[in-house]
Amino acid sequence: MAFQNLLSAAENGICTITINRPDKLNALNQATLKELRQALNEAVADPEVKGIIITGAGPKAFVAGADISEFSGLNEEQGRAFAANGHEIFRAIELCPKPVIAAVNGFALGGGCELAMACHMRIASELAKFGQPEVNLGLIPGYGGTQRLTMHIGRGRATELLMTGDIINAQDAYRVGLVNYLVPPEQLIPKCTEILQRIASKAPLAVAEIVKCVDAHYTDGVDGYAFEVDAFGRCSGTEDFKEGASAFMEKRKAVFKGK
Ligand code: COA
Repeated sequence: MAFQNLLSAAENGICTITINRPDKLNALNQATLKELRQALNEAVADPEVKGIIITGAGPKAFVAGADISEFSGLNEEQGRAFAANGHEIFRAIELCPKPVIAAVNGFALGGGCELAMACHMRIASELAKFGQPEVNLGLIPGYGGTQRLTMHIGRGRATELLMTGDIINAQDAYRVGLVNYLVPPEQLIPKCTEILQRIASKAPLAVAEIVKCVDAHYTDGVDGYAFEVDAFGRCSGTEDFKEGASAFMEKRKAVFKGK
């Protein structure tokens, strides 16, 4: 499907979704969010796609936030609906059964930082900047930022960033564990591709179970250990497990089918 606000292209098993509003620093308006949901659904449904990269167009921004021009006039009820919509889409990214990496090429602010945090991993260009500056607008993050920033960097650091609205550089984001790797700008997509290609050679059902098991750790009311026991059981019943074990015994490379 052709999109107005983003580009989605699959090559060699990797779908790259590029938020494409560079003149607005790739700010997420409602139309872009809707397209992001659609692009994600298409990538999940495409059996050729083994991994997904989300990035921003242009040299300056990953995503500089939700589009402020769209939410400046919201009342309480509309604000709640606005946040709930973003939550739903970012949760779908977080629970995506295929690996999703945020390739953070520049400003990742507000909803942009939240989008990056909803991805399974974050690789940052040395030029990237991160922050949740909503407090400067009299707001708080509304797309999961208070929860995911706390999850990723811990309570004290997250509270400081949320309360001050400070923007941190990529080096500091790496130091506090917000990003997995820091690379020169030209290495950003190659690094993401290299990781996704390695994962693509693994058993897809096991990869999808890992997404759910890791998420279980952070989900209230779910015993992550019990969840893992069940997931291990499900993996044990797959053809791919038989293939993986046989390949090991026969000293050959496993060929997984996702069954
Ligand atoms: N929503 C809507 N438009 C945005 C935007 C956002 N979150 N972030 C940037 N833009 C737009 C600007 O309005 C500007 O549009 P214009 O050329 O039509 O005036 C364009 O993108 C370029 O931004 P500009 O501010 O001129 O670039 P800069 O290099 O001077 O500053 C930032 C870069 C990121 C520091 C600055 O754009 C900024 O503070 N953005 C808002 C960040 C934010 O608060 N995000 C959280 C929102 S909840």
